Amino acid sequence: MTLTLLLLLVFFTNCKDELSTENPPAPPVGTTPIPASEQRNGDPDSGYDYLVYGDYVGNGIPIGAFNLAGQGSDENLLGRTGDNENIPHDFTAVDAPNGVRVVAANCLQCHAQKLNGELVVGLGSTLYDFTNDQSAIVPLVDGVLGLLYGNDSPEWEAYEPFRRAVLALGPQLMTEVVGVNPADKLAVVLAAHRNQDDLSWNDDPSLDIPSEVVITDVPAWWLLKKKNAMFYNGFGRGDFARIMMASSLLTLQDSTVAREVDGHFADVLAFINTIEAPEFPGNLDVDKVTQGKAIFTENCASCHGTYGENESYPNLLVNLDLVGTDPILAQSNFEYVAYVDWYNESWFAQPPFAARLEPQNGYVAPPLDGVWATAPYLHNGSVPDLTTLLNSSERPTYWRRTIDDSDYNLDRVGWNYTTETSKIDNQTYDVTQFSYGNGGHTFGDLLSDEERDVLIEYLKSL
Ligand code: HEC
Ligand code: HEC
Repeated sequence: MTLTLLLLLVFFTNCKDELSTENPPAPPVGTTPIPASEQRNGDPDSGYDYLVYGDYVGNGIPIGAFNLAGQGSDENLLGRTGDNENIPHDFTAVDAPNGVRVVAANCLQCHAQKLNGELVVGLGSTLYDFTNDQSAIVPLVDGVLGLLYGNDSPEWEAYEPFRRAVLALGPQLMTEVVGVNPADKLAVVLAAHRNQDDLSWNDDPSLDIPSEVVITDVPAWWLLKKKNAMFYNGFGRGDFARIMMASSLLTLQDSTVAREVDGHFADVLAFINTIEAPEFPGNLDVDKVTQGKAIFTENCASCHGTYGENESYPNLLVNLDLVGTDPILAQSNFEYVAYVDWYNESWFAQPPFAARLEPQNGYVAPPLDGVWATAPYLHNGSVPDLTTLLNSSERPTYWRRTIDDSDYNLDRVGWNYTTETSKIDNQTYDVTQFSYGNGGHTFGDLLSDEERDVLIEYLKSL
């Protein structure tokens, strides 16, 4: 093709875009657009393969012991082959660096969940239980592996990096309620135990680890393709593939292995970018959807974008004052200066494909594709359903759910719950706890009940 032809083509493609895009609403005062950064391209099929078979976490429980302990599963939810056929979807059988076959945790521990009986890859898990100290199990596992293989065996050697990580992490990650996630603290603790340059393990943490656990919900993977920054507060900048491979810090030996793992993550990103939001499984009232769309365009689109044929997404960071939701997550990133500095001078920040953390004084207004499936709502999962998200005076202070994936309410759009008068157990969300607050995002409060009703019908259709 000649250069002129190419230029013409570019010209026409641009024209077409301009003609067909509805004018996106102007960004409201108190918001800042997040600039895009360049991303690596990859192959989605190889990415999926690596995600569910890959050894990015390369140490774990020797497979014989795992199966003997009855941890196998015959569901094969991912349709995997070989010995992974009998391994639960959130674990992967891999060869440890010394050749011993082990079962290691994979990303789907937190990034997949059954909803009404169907596994949805990319849906953040809100069923996982981090309320107990996960290291309490170590003595038992030690005993079993000692008996089966002895503690100077290759099997023990393949288990040891996992063991030391669980011992360091377990007591640091405890949450107040089932279904919220301590991954941000996990990242801090792992950084503290890793050498900044070559990522080798130090038993003594090099950073002061804050005592509190600032919890979050887990964002759906299908939203990432629209986002210019990772994480609820938009502080993940630069190369996304580099940022998300940090999970392998759980057990990896050092940066030699990290480079190898990093080479696969452009493919994992490409796979994540192919995931589409699941469609609402119930009936939709078409008239209400149309009325709801008008209300959305008027009250919500300036922050959350527009949907349908000519969609747009403004990538806005919304100041804490304006959104008013629990500020702790955003603030903690400013307070953990030592961690942010560690990251920004570490192996992760080295070119090519450098990543960096930029603390922000607000939260990203997320895309709302598939929002019907992602309850509970807000960055800390403090609001059980869309009905209460849009009417802040109705939000429960203590709410309890069954932690059963089929206990989902398609009318109110979110988890069924009972309102309690105090925290009665580890299934009761208590919004009075540190970082668990449910205030703010009052943008639905001024609408009438009828307006909220049609707006929710529209949100179901996204
Ligand atoms: C222990 C649970 C856990 C594991 C394991 C985990 N993640 Fe996450 N992930 C989270 C949480 C929680 C967040 C949101 C944190 C925040 O925004 O503050 C997140 C955020 C992300 C995001 C950003 C999404 C967005 O829209 O901003 C991506 C992408 C991601 N994870 C990919 C991965 C990949 C790939 C793996 C495996 C290599 C992985 N994660 C393993 C819990 C986990
Ligand atoms: C000024 C900007 C702004 C406006 C206007 C706005 N939102 Fe939001 N919205 C946000 C931000 C920021 C968040 C994330 C807050 C957090 O997680 O703490 C959010 C979160 C949400 C969530 C939760 C998403 C999730 O998965 O947790 C929903 C649903 C939502 N908004 C719907 C709406 C609707 C419907 C309207 C209109 C009535 C609206 N928003 C108006 C900024 C806005």
